[in-house]
Amino acid sequence: QERTYIMVKPDGVERGLVGEIIKRFETKGYQLSALEMMSPSKELLEQHYIDLASKPFFPKLINYMSSGPVVGMVWKGKDVVKTGRKMLGATNPLDSLPGTIRGDYCIDVSQNLCHGSDSTESAEREIGLWFTRGAIDWKRKYDSFIYE
Ligand code: GTP
Ligand code: MG
Repeated sequence: QERTYIMVKPDGVERGLVGEIIKRFETKGYQLSALEMMSPSKELLEQHYIDLASKPFFPKLINYMSSGPVVGMVWKGKDVVKTGRKMLGATNPLDSLPGTIRGDYCIDVSQNLCHGSDSTESAEREIGLWFTRGAIDWKRKYDSFIYE
């Protein structure tokens, strides 16, 4: 089954939105496979956002992301990469629809609460980067109530 890497950014942790973000993925029916709170190094964040290294906002992004602890997660399920990003909402919260996490809880693009992998390839790369000990591959009995 498909997996994605979801992270609650430092502003989301600071604002006490970890539970809310977990709740949305849990109640949707996705399966939690890994979870860790950590204070990432700048080197790890630079690797994570390597595709954005040439952007003018990159130094600001790395500073923001290293301003406090984050909570990283692996979520598993059908189409979880694309659907997960829909649940987070558009990158710029001013464009995120109400009902999405960013649409409901934030305003500025530089403090947009959460991260979600943008493709299955990015997801596997990010899971390898953040969860060096791997994720838990467990069979959930509940799946038969979610999937036909
Ligand atoms: P992530 O899930 O965090 O990867 O966001 P995304 O995939 O929706 O957007 P992208 O990967 O293009 O950008 C990564 C992050 O950089 C965004 O989530 C923002 O926090 C930040 N960012 C993007 N564009 C801007 C910008 O124009 N200014 C600033 N300050 N930050 C930006
Ligand atoms: Mg991105």
